[in-house]
Amino acid sequence: MTVADDTATATEARTARILARPVQLNGLTVPNRIVMAPMTRQFSPGGIPGEDVASYYARRAAAGVGLIVTEGTYVGHDSAGQSDDIPRFHGEKQLAGWKKVVDAVHAAGGTIAPQLWHIGMVRQAGQPPYTDAPAVGPSGISSAGAEVTGKEMTQQDLDDVIAAFARAAADAERIGFDGIELHGAHGYLVDQFLWEGTNRRTDAYGGSAVARTKFAAEIVAAVRAVVSPGFPVIFRYSQWKQQAYDARLAETPEELAAILTPLAEAGVDAFHASTRRYWVPEFEGSDLNLAGWTKKLTGKPTITVGSVGLDGDFIRAFAGEGSSARSIDDLLDRLESDEFDLVAIGRALLQDPEWAAKVLAGRFTELNAYDPSALKSLS
Ligand SMILES: Cc1cc2nc3c(=O)[nH]c(=O)nc-3n(C[C@H](O)[C@H](O)[C@H](O)COP(=O)(O)O)c2cc1C
Repeated sequence: MTVADDTATATEARTARILARPVQLNGLTVPNRIVMAPMTRQFSPGGIPGEDVASYYARRAAAGVGLIVTEGTYVGHDSAGQSDDIPRFHGEKQLAGWKKVVDAVHAAGGTIAPQLWHIGMVRQAGQPPYTDAPAVGPSGISSAGAEVTGKEMTQQDLDDVIAAFARAAADAERIGFDGIELHGAHGYLVDQFLWEGTNRRTDAYGGSAVARTKFAAEIVAAVRAVVSPGFPVIFRYSQWKQQAYDARLAETPEELAAILTPLAEAGVDAFHASTRRYWVPEFEGSDLNLAGWTKKLTGKPTITVGSVGLDGDFIRAFAGEGSSARSIDDLLDRLESDEFDLVAIGRALLQDPEWAAKVLAGRFTELNAYDPSALKSLS
């Protein structure tokens, strides 16, 4: 063996040792630390995921992804979405489609959780699947400083949406999913409540950070009440918004704790802290990233995400930009020191269904750059 061979073997052994460890999320044992990040694909006509969607996810599970979080899927509320090609998580045909996805992923040895989604004020008027439905949100505004263009949610609206999330979670468990993820990130409905830029309410759901978290915490509690005690509930959140990339929910760890503590108390089992670059420290005076802080503040397992294995962030991907491969050495150091527990992979897994198998085997030279053409098909 040459020195280069020895180094390669040592790298492979370290990668496998760190990434191939199982991890517990409430009652679910995830076989390794690699998560597929939720990614909207728009390949489900009529909101029904078909065989191609099932095999797309099963390919990633077969190649070693420990936990798949599906693309965002609309809960059963008329204002939840705005595309007929994004899968819905209600309706007989839609849930039957999802059941086939679950079965295919399980047959391939993986675990899977749907990402339950309501887009709130991001909805444009007249869009499918329910063209007459209004855009709804905490204050009827789509971003900080925007005019009122939608409906300020009434207590009845809040109760309906909370019930829709709970129904979806119960359905997820019934058809065999291993857990659920609540989409509380990126400026969609749940995040519109969390963010003071879109939440101007003066009732119990607006004002302080704790009040802005009330809606999210009620969703978590309603979900928790209808699923088994061991069924994992993951909550995804972000500082950034798709309406405002530089927005922040929390400027300090104390402000972040005010939001995360009620969610943890309501029954969140794991947090998914969405950032665009995982190596960026979240607050001054510490190297911890957002997932690291989340774990430190709540004690819950956390998932990190953002440009893992790539050198350009995903917002640039929407502008049609590619991204070259980047070493994951520092990520492994952070995982090894328990800064966070799992790592979600987005574009790299769109590009290459075999990404997890290659990384787990230390085959780094076989990793591909990300090319935006990967968005065009369900390969
Ligand atoms: C095509 C595409 C669709 C996405 N759709 C969703 C989504 O439905 N829900 C969500 O929370 N994040 C979504 N994201 C964000 C990803 O989950 C992930 O956080 C982001 O791509 C950063 O990871 P990456 O740098 O590894 O790609 C999407 C990203 C991409 C590229």
